[in-house]
Amino acid sequence: MTIVKTIEEVRAQVKAWRAEGLTVGLVPTMGYLHEGHQSLIARSVAENDRTVVSDFVNPIQFGPSEDLATYPRDIDRDAALCEQTGADLIFHPEAEEMYAPDFCTYVDMDHLTKGLCGKTRPTHFRGVCTVVSKLFHIVQPDRAYFGQKDAQQLAVIRRMVRDLNMPLDIVGCPIIREADGLAKSSRNTYLSAAERQAALCLSRGLNKGRAAVEAGETDAAKVKAMITAEIEAEPLSRIDYVEIVDWNNLEPVDSTAGSILAAVAVYIGKTRLIDNFIIER
Ligand code: PAJ
Repeated sequence: MTIVKTIEEVRAQVKAWRAEGLTVGLVPTMGYLHEGHQSLIARSVAENDRTVVSDFVNPIQFGPSEDLATYPRDIDRDAALCEQTGADLIFHPEAEEMYAPDFCTYVDMDHLTKGLCGKTRPTHFRGVCTVVSKLFHIVQPDRAYFGQKDAQQLAVIRRMVRDLNMPLDIVGCPIIREADGLAKSSRNTYLSAAERQAALCLSRGLNKGRAAVEAGETDAAKVKAMITAEIEAEPLSRIDYVEIVDWNNLEPVDSTAGSILAAVAVYIGKTRLIDNFIIER
């Protein structure tokens, strides 16, 4: 496995693989890898001849008051995890390699990016769509892998690929959790011991909501209230949103009878965590 820092090196490597007729999978990440990322890498390794992992804390998807400066980074640990999982190449550029000083072209999306995380993070998905488009152009993979952990992101990327006719398949992968239910996240490292315990209110609330829907509850407002109550019972929590939306278009629903995404964003102390469940039917 090799680590490269320039676009030119990625292009040269992928060109050589293509000359041999090999297929290529891409796993975009911001590094500080954990078993959630690892599950995406393993899936790509299983489904493609070669796997590229991008490891880049993308500055343009962070808002001015967000955690860009403190976002955890450890390329040596990431490299070991990638190697062990069977990745072939890590693309680990500096911000200057990705963004020229006079960079001014963005991929933006209406509708899907306005609700849920888009409400409090108005420029986030523009940053995500732009960097992911750049990575698709740099690597030109056959498939790219995204986690359901960031469900809105997965929906946004799928829509972008459809709307802009990008020639690759997007593969969505299930949420990987800690043994006690907390969804794995690079941001979990911000949590103190007490906050780590408090953070369980997200999965606990969502589990209650899912159980109610599976038991036949179709009133979305009731399910939302159930999830909200469970999270609010935790004193260290502060809800950003609890929403139930149509999984196809991310519009709020009154009934949970169709394909739905139930998504939450909750501050535990200063750390903002997200989690969700999807029921497809
Ligand atoms: P990052 O937060 O590093 O996540 C990279 C990928 O790993 C995303 O597709 C995310 O959904 C997935 N992932 C994270 N935690 C997971 C978990 N517990 N289970 C399953 N998958 C999980 O998402 C980003 O980076 C960035 O926005 C990026 C797409 C790389 C663009 O900069």
